Amino acid sequence: MIIRRFTPSDVRPVMEVVKASLGETYPPSLYLTLHNIWQDGFLVMEEDGRLVAFVAAVESEKRIARILMLAVLREYRGRSLGSILMKELSARCIANDIHTVKLEVRKSNKIAIAFYERLGFAITGELNNFYVNGEGAYVMMKVLES
Ligand SMILES: CC(C)(COP(=O)(O)OP(=O)(O)OC[C@H]1O[C@@H](n2cnc3c(N)ncnc32)[C@H](O)[C@@H]1OP(=O)(O)O)[C@@H](O)C(=O)NCCC(=O)NCCS
Repeated sequence: MIIRRFTPSDVRPVMEVVKASLGETYPPSLYLTLHNIWQDGFLVMEEDGRLVAFVAAVESEKRIARILMLAVLREYRGRSLGSILMKELSARCIANDIHTVKLEVRKSNKIAIAFYERLGFAITGELNNFYVNGEGAYVMMKVLES
């Protein structure tokens, strides 16, 4: 298993993970834009040459990273890959002098909420009507230890 920065040739496989795991289809330009904004925030994980997971974050406020997307292909879940990917992102945040990570998660996404809590994130707020279907989000946050 390797973790590396996203490169433009990863657009298609990342889009497949997003479609399969998050049910969304965003334009390829979105991924290229995220890559251009912050290369250390957009990481992919490969296993046996297959792109199986990724995380995309931006520096949304000074010294605060915001995770926009995180997904592990279904058949690879429950094997700590998501946790390993998040640890690598955290290390790169610290290397970039970013010490806080935040994200929004659907209130109904109990698995992701448990996942983030296990990693030390705490719910710090909520946002009504955050998603297109009207669902609300929890804001979760973690201060990284350097
Ligand atoms: C959330 C997600 C990234 C977790 O990835 P993963 O590689 O399966 O997670 P890990 O194996 O590292 O799990 C770490 C911890 O998270 C929690 N967790 C993970 N999957 C869980 C499940 N199905 N049920 C309950 N808790 C779970 C557990 O506490 C687990 O620790 P444990 O293995 O010691 O029990 C993955 O489920 C996913 O891609 N989901 C769909 C996309 C999504 O919801 N993304 C987040 C949007 S904000």
